[in-house]
Amino acid sequence: MDAIRVRGGRALKGDVKISGAKNAALPILCATLLADGPSLLRNVPALRDIDTTAALLRFLGCDVVINKETSEVRVAGTRLTRIEAPYELVKQMRASVLVLGPLLARHGKAKVSLPGGCAIGARPVDQHLKGLEAMGAKIRLERGYVIAEAPTGRLKGADFMFDMPTVGGTENIMMAAALAKGRTTLWNCAREPEIEELAKILNKMGARIDGAGTDVMHIDGVEQLAPFDHAIIADRIEAGTYMCAAAAVDGSDVRLSGVVLEDLEALVLKLRQAGVTVEREGEFVRVRRDGPIKPVNVTTAPHPGFPTDMQAQFLVVMTRAKGESVMTETIFENRFMHVPELLRMGAHIEIRGRSAIVQGVDTLEGASVMATDLRASASLVIAGLYSQGETEVRRVYHLDRGYEHMEQKLSALGADCERVKGAEG
Ligand code: EPZ
Repeated sequence: MDAIRVRGGRALKGDVKISGAKNAALPILCATLLADGPSLLRNVPALRDIDTTAALLRFLGCDVVINKETSEVRVAGTRLTRIEAPYELVKQMRASVLVLGPLLARHGKAKVSLPGGCAIGARPVDQHLKGLEAMGAKIRLERGYVIAEAPTGRLKGADFMFDMPTVGGTENIMMAAALAKGRTTLWNCAREPEIEELAKILNKMGARIDGAGTDVMHIDGVEQLAPFDHAIIADRIEAGTYMCAAAAVDGSDVRLSGVVLEDLEALVLKLRQAGVTVEREGEFVRVRRDGPIKPVNVTTAPHPGFPTDMQAQFLVVMTRAKGESVMTETIFENRFMHVPELLRMGAHIEIRGRSAIVQGVDTLEGASVMATDLRASASLVIAGLYSQGETEVRRVYHLDRGYEHMEQKLSALGADCERVKGAEG
């Protein structure tokens, strides 16, 4: 397994281009199943999760061509040979469950492995299934698989309220409702920018979706959807990760290109409260810090609240603050696995229930640490960037799921970091 080796203390300076959004690309790739003919996605990041989704689409019978030089993916979902998402693929990436809605809507049946839990929590899909049942789907669970069918061959529009805002649940039901007979109204929808991006593309395909980005959505089903050509929005979590890196490392002055600042208002507010300067500079967003980091309390929440996907990265910034900060994670039940690794680097953090109480220290000591999940691995790299000495972040296959060329981008900003092939796991 590869590792990333970082020697701390080098200020980050210069420009970094933010890649396309992983969490927009994944549902949009699944949406290609809704139409005949080739769709073209542009600005798609070169990530392990994209490769996994391509493998799933190919398993279903799609013709998928990934061009990592041009960041384009072409998908022709014309003649499916299967309607099944197997355990071997779903266990690699839970977002595979997003083929359930499109397969059911387009082909009237689907067999999708239950994702099972993951490192950060149980992550059930009950809301996805309840929404589809409300639209007339018959669903049974069999040997770890969801077997779903539309008895009349076509789902019907329905009124449905989510028990909580769920990104994947909202996306699955949006895609299913786009081809259902009649109107679907959804309440308590997730409001993430990736939801708005999916609605934009579905409408480009001929769907009739209104209200995406708010908590109530109306979807009038149509008979057929057409393939699309679309450039994916920038990855706001990748952007936030580099903003936290620039905030954490003394003397840094970084400009990000491609980021939509409006999608990161909660994070920017908290960075500014911590004494970090975040400002627009033409097409760039510039991030730097002149004085000490001030302690800031954060509670994660569904968008537009503070993103759970930024919790680990911001917590690392707080490990250097002058005072006590409290980070409360409300979305997932086990998303502090970066904390034991940070403690090994000398951080002062105590977990109390769903909160991490952080007492800032001047610096950390480089160490060999273990990545456990995508955002935790990014936070350990950030910690290594400002620690004294050398940090080796192992099992960076977690990082490769969601960050395109991170070691190259950081090296281009002046960091002393490199990938170590085949390091001890
Ligand atoms: C998406 O996951 C993202 N993944 C996650 O990003 C992100 O952390 C999460 O949304 C929250 O913002 C993708 O978009 C591919 P949810 P998802 O359904 O859709 C509960 C990353 O780092 N829930 O919004 O799986 C669930 O347990 C990843 O890029 C149910 O109870 O998350 C959680 O507590 C990690 N039943 C909460 O809702 C359901 O049927 C939010 O989960 C569905 C969800």
